Amino acid sequence: MNILGIESSCDECAAAVVLDGWRVLSNVVATQIPIHRLYNGVVPELASRAHAEWITPVVQEALAQAGLGPAAVEGVAVTARPGLLGSLLVGLSFAKAFAWARNLPFIAVDHMLAHLYAPRLLVSADSGGEAGGSGPASAEPPAYPFLGLLVSGGHSIICRVHGFDNIEVLGTTIDDAAGEAFDKVAKHYGFGYPGGAAIDGLARTGDPGVFRFSMPNLHKGGRRYDVSYSGLKTAAIINLEQFRAKPDSPLERPANIAASFQRTAVEILLRSLFRAVEDTGLTTVVIGGGVAANSLLRARVSERKDIRSIFPPLEFCGDNGAMVAGLGYQYLARGDRSPLTVTASARVSAFKRPYP
Ligand code: KG4
Ligand code: ZN
Repeated sequence: MNILGIESSCDECAAAVVLDGWRVLSNVVATQIPIHRLYNGVVPELASRAHAEWITPVVQEALAQAGLGPAAVEGVAVTARPGLLGSLLVGLSFAKAFAWARNLPFIAVDHMLAHLYAPRLLVSADSGGEAGGSGPASAEPPAYPFLGLLVSGGHSIICRVHGFDNIEVLGTTIDDAAGEAFDKVAKHYGFGYPGGAAIDGLARTGDPGVFRFSMPNLHKGGRRYDVSYSGLKTAAIINLEQFRAKPDSPLERPANIAASFQRTAVEILLRSLFRAVEDTGLTTVVIGGGVAANSLLRARVSERKDIRSIFPPLEFCGDNGAMVAGLGYQYLARGDRSPLTVTASARVSAFKRPYP
């Protein structure tokens, strides 16, 4: 079944065609990074306008790259939540119109569940799908339950996964998301935009031992798997004063600051994740979201030989339409349909704990 997947929740205008939930026939991502770089962050109104302008050519390109005409599309999947409301509405409205005009099955999906699905995608018959993990990708998930680590610009979730649409949140951030911390620190230091990839790149030549940022103190009670980034973010930004005062000092080299920040940012995730592994006895971990591209996170999780870690290939870590099409296929194959009255939602309801 050929599913057209559409993603417009933030700053990537994306569409893809995926066959049977796993074989990616095309994956087109039109990034708005050059637009938002000028402001060092995503400007929601500019994002919506660019989506409105680009959505038609992006879908046309996805069909062309798949070698298919619109008549070959058998179902439409789209991200409806969470994200920037105006941006979501562009993709959602387009997807509804496409499905309605062609009388196709239609499903609106959750963006974070789509990130969780991303490692199950395969681009071609011979490209391995589990970077940093083992075994080939396919529509078949590892046996449920397993652990999920979903880390993006807006969310940090550690969960027990019972099904493609059923996760139990064990921990989440009590303040900023992991990706947001990378973005804000990079913005303050002028390291580049978007911040996660900029810090990851800079950190490669830095000494992570130069600055010692403290870990958040979140050991108690129900907080065992929660994470917090506002303390680290503030500490890194306070350090900026020193950086500005003596930018040429080896101590203040940007690479050292990036490496030290990144080490602590990753340790915060690992501490909660490894605790969840130990407490639950679940040793398969699926990682997804933009921060899953982080080289240190990938290396540190993969180091644990007692854990089977499954990362998406880099091209499916960030926002893309293929993960939406893949997840959408699972719902549609089960017979689920969304009504055309479904609307977008900026947040998931009661998102701190129960999800979705
Ligand atoms: O999933 P995503 O593309 O969009 C959202 O759903 O938010 O995630 C974007 C986030 C941004 O905060 C970006 O800085 C971060 O993922 N990111 C990274 C890396 N690449 C992207 N964070 C750390 N290291 C990276 N290599
Ligand atoms: Zn995302």
